[in-house]
Amino acid sequence: MQVVETIKDLHEWREGISGTVGLVPTMGYLHDGHLALVRRAREENDQVAVSIFVNPRQFGPNEDFARYPRDTTRDLSLLRDAAVDCVFLPSVDEIYPPGFSTTVDVEGLGRRLEGLSRPGHFRGVATVVARLLNLVRPTRAYFGQKDAQQVAVVRRMTADLALPTEIIAVPTVRDADGLALSSRNIFLSIDERTAALSLWRALARAEDAFTAGERKAEVLREIVCLELELQPLVQIDYVSVADSASFEELDLVDRPATIALAVWLGRTRLIDNVALES
Ligand code: PAJ
Repeated sequence: MQVVETIKDLHEWREGISGTVGLVPTMGYLHDGHLALVRRAREENDQVAVSIFVNPRQFGPNEDFARYPRDTTRDLSLLRDAAVDCVFLPSVDEIYPPGFSTTVDVEGLGRRLEGLSRPGHFRGVATVVARLLNLVRPTRAYFGQKDAQQVAVVRRMTADLALPTEIIAVPTVRDADGLALSSRNIFLSIDERTAALSLWRALARAEDAFTAGERKAEVLREIVCLELELQPLVQIDYVSVADSASFEELDLVDRPATIALAVWLGRTRLIDNVALES
């Protein structure tokens, strides 16, 4: 496994390989969710590259950039075990050299939900992902359904900029009790961790109602809210039932839709979602 820190070394690696290339962009502190993307990339491509870069531009001024967890030694050992070919570990200056002034902004879709709660977040994501795709020139790039709106933003961006990479969405990996794996879960106290189980419970209740025939978005939102409100430690940021591609809120679930939610548990913000398809 090659570990490269500079664009120059990354280009050298890219020039020396042939066949299909799968890229998995991450911010590190890897867990089984990230590794599911890596495994899928490994199955589908001749070469697998993983980037680890905690992207300052996708964090707001009052967000957790400084305390975002990092453990590069452990990450590299997990990636070596997963038979990854190349790990790109750039510095902030390598990604945003002095004078860097171009951003990629996905309007509409990128302003809703996560984009509304975290202004500038998706501009940071789209900008760094566009740059990574141009640097690595992968055949396919892998993203988790856990961040469903991020997948939609990346799909929109690659289509609009005519980037040749195929975007693959991989199902959310959960702990046995249903909590979606997230690098931020380590911030939860024991009580918060228990309360966090209500996220999946709430989504599962709403999904059951949908399966039983409920199509009114407001009723589905209400089912989610009622379950979350049973937990005093959970503070709701948003609960949404939206079109899976545009993330516009729906009145009636008459097309592929996503129930998405964001909550605060103390100082930790968690998101989760479930896709609805009849
Ligand atoms: P990060 O949060 O490190 O996540 C990297 C990838 O892993 C994302 O595509 C995310 O959706 C996926 N992922 C996280 N938890 C998952 C889970 N439980 N199951 C399946 N996939 C999961 O998302 C980012 O980094 C950044 O925004 C990035 C795309 C790297 C751009 O900076």
